[in-house]
Amino acid sequence: MKVSENSCLTLAGLAGHPSPVSDNWWRDAVVYQIYPRSFADGNGDGTGDLIGARQKLPYLAELGVDAIWLSPFYTSPLADGGYDVSDYRDVDPRFGTLGDFDALVEQAHALGIRVIVDIVPNHSSSAHPWFQEALAGKNRDRYIFRDAPNDWESIFGGPAWTQVSDGQWYLHLFDPEQPDLNWENPEVRAEFVDIIRFWLDRGVDGFRIDVAHGMIKADGLPDVGARDGRQVELLGHEPLPYFDQDGVHEIYREWRPILDSYGAIGVAEAWVESPQRLARYIGSDELHQAFNFDFMMAEFDAKSFRGIIDKSLAEADLVGAPTTWVLSNHDRYRHVTRYDSLAKAKAGTLLMLALPGSAYLYNGEELGLDEVLDLPDELREDPAFKRTGESRDGCRVPIPWGTGDLAWTNPWLPQPERWNALTAQAQENDPASTLNFYRAALKLRRGFNGPLHWLNAPDGVLAFKRGDRTVVVNISEQDYPLTGEILLASGPLSTDGSLPPNTAAWTKP
Ligand code: NOJ
Repeated sequence: MKVSENSCLTLAGLAGHPSPVSDNWWRDAVVYQIYPRSFADGNGDGTGDLIGARQKLPYLAELGVDAIWLSPFYTSPLADGGYDVSDYRDVDPRFGTLGDFDALVEQAHALGIRVIVDIVPNHSSSAHPWFQEALAGKNRDRYIFRDAPNDWESIFGGPAWTQVSDGQWYLHLFDPEQPDLNWENPEVRAEFVDIIRFWLDRGVDGFRIDVAHGMIKADGLPDVGARDGRQVELLGHEPLPYFDQDGVHEIYREWRPILDSYGAIGVAEAWVESPQRLARYIGSDELHQAFNFDFMMAEFDAKSFRGIIDKSLAEADLVGAPTTWVLSNHDRYRHVTRYDSLAKAKAGTLLMLALPGSAYLYNGEELGLDEVLDLPDELREDPAFKRTGESRDGCRVPIPWGTGDLAWTNPWLPQPERWNALTAQAQENDPASTLNFYRAALKLRRGFNGPLHWLNAPDGVLAFKRGDRTVVVNISEQDYPLTGEILLASGPLSTDGSLPPNTAAWTKP
């Protein structure tokens, strides 16, 4: 929202928000990711949409989130679930209209919820008018065309180059339907500044920048050379000539004053070699935050969590920015399945929500949803599936709300029978449900303040203090004694009140 021009409206609009309007809301925010296609279906056609998302805002306010991040809802052939945009300034008819978007933003703000939208600047859809022109031989310099391909591979498997009818090749780091834009061309830069302003003027509070490390490619597009196995993977860490090039930072230095003038934030989705490289994306002249994927990639193991927490906090401190934490998103198996149990997933969640910085939740994790691993192949839509056999469809199965108004009719991916026990409706009034656990955790989280201080603990146990709160995560094989008042535990305690394995607790003296 444009604070300077609309300040009265902003203050009134955020009346429902538990904390006063602050420029720093994002530093410890809980941001809830909505994958629009799978979140809530407002018109009963089996595809989630913006009307459905708006209907669920009161549910999200009750859950206690500070912001929502909407994955792409722009006009798109949906070759990659909407990360293939053919019109950056409109809503795909399957998701609604610009009017539906405006209504969503207005109602979110009235409930004190900020709205972050995805922006996809590395590539457009091949259906974008610019690419259609390029295919017709006009203005090819908006994309990366060459007479011969190099050895780069697509993140979705196979070569990153496709030949067009006149013999030239174009670069697509993802699917052939996602041609890479040429960020050396000033017209591309100007276009995205304009797109950013378009959504800022509609009231968004920030952007999640897709493939934020990808727009600039190394000079001369040098070959990567021989490697064992695949050259690149989604969420990979290898240094590559098409990722994390210095030039990409100029783009964010151009965007930052624009974001600042609206009081909006930028969050980088950047898969880079190390927390040091990630820290370069954030700070007062670039973006506000970057996803910390190391935490999401960590094993459910005390040592690996501790190492990543220490490293991430230290690097973020260097640039004076808070770090982010995430356990699940639309690209990765849900953490219930990765950790192999709901109990461990809830313990991981309690760890994440107690850490300094902001936390990103993925729609459905508050219901304890697991990955749907047995979708029939013919229903899978992830473009990577055809090329690599790997698929992200299982974490994109529509959210089970329950019966009546909340039900899906013919959801675009089928929901498994076992989710009948996990619907929001089934969990609503059960004090022991995962949904009520998340609600309690988000409420209590507001009481965490100050830096993290580790406490001595045996192998396999993580224990730290923040202010007067103590956090204990038991990943050992023995019970661990707790002291003080238990504010919240991720599962039942042992009969003597100690913390069983694979359980976490928040306590205070
Ligand atoms: C990262 C997004 O999270 C993922 O879903 C998408 O496939 C790629 N970027 C390409 O846009």
